[in-house]
Amino acid sequence: MTAITARAHTNIALIKYWGKKDPQLILPYTDSVSLTLNDFYTDTTVEFDDALTADTFSLDGAAQPTKKITPFLDLVRQRAEITAFAHVDSVNHVPTAAGLASSASAYAALALAASRAAGLQLNEIALSRLARRGSGSATRSIYGGLSIWHRGDDDATSFAESLPMPDLDLAMLVVLVDAGPKPISSRNLMANTVATSPYYPAWVTHNQKAAQQMVSALSANDFATIGHLTEQSSMQMHATILASDPAFTYWTPETLKAWAIVKQLRANGIPAYATMDAGPNVKILTLSDYVPQILQALQPDFADRVLTTMPGPAAQVIGGTHV
Ligand code: DP6
Repeated sequence: MTAITARAHTNIALIKYWGKKDPQLILPYTDSVSLTLNDFYTDTTVEFDDALTADTFSLDGAAQPTKKITPFLDLVRQRAEITAFAHVDSVNHVPTAAGLASSASAYAALALAASRAAGLQLNEIALSRLARRGSGSATRSIYGGLSIWHRGDDDATSFAESLPMPDLDLAMLVVLVDAGPKPISSRNLMANTVATSPYYPAWVTHNQKAAQQMVSALSANDFATIGHLTEQSSMQMHATILASDPAFTYWTPETLKAWAIVKQLRANGIPAYATMDAGPNVKILTLSDYVPQILQALQPDFADRVLTTMPGPAAQVIGGTHV
């Protein structure tokens, strides 16, 4: 059998995905646009083995339950017309306690490693569709740099594609507000937002428009608009979440403190825009020339809790053995 190791990088959505119109197939209500990051990734090795009686899964060397990955591997087995169970070993290369360990890099790496180990040679769109079945955000982590996930209408039409990089030196800073586990998973909260937030339909209308505006701003190298749309999509997502029943926010006072610093930087003429995901950490989109000034502004409150990164590469196979 062949063991294949694939690496996929995490991504941060500039235009967010929040809400599924089909939870089974993971079809989103809106398009989303993201930036794959260089410094945070997952390496996953998959080997199908006829001698196994069930799939096995380890993360950073520790055995894990397989109830999420087995249905995913079943998709690969069906497609490759094989029945063998698999060994799956993942290592997360995310700075300790960064709170960025994400299902995006996990399922993108698993989609690539498992499909190759099963003897399939899927193209990027097919891989993106497969990764989507594990986690929505993984749809976009097949690609390096920027990508857009077209919401589509069904399994065949909901996939991500690469977007050309603008002629801009994009950089991202990650402010580690809190590295603890999420109080509510994005999957559950997303479903509750769709079901109960009266603002959700408005969010869908605005965010879908914003995805198209983002594509135009990227092709025009218009960083002020790229940044503005990024911050707006995140804040509108969090506003919609806050309006759910029961009302909820991932934010903490420190989240607001970091956002206030970003707004102050902007008032001082520095192009910096905040975006938050399903947690309290704040990511700052900027241009690489401004990173030192932003680090300086964050220093008093966040000192050594800031990581700087830049656009990262596409998912790739990094190793394979015939055993
Ligand atoms: C806030 O991709 O983790 O990061 O599809 O249920 O696995 P599932 O959700 P997930 O949600 C990501 C939400 C987000 C925004 C984004 O990445 O677009």
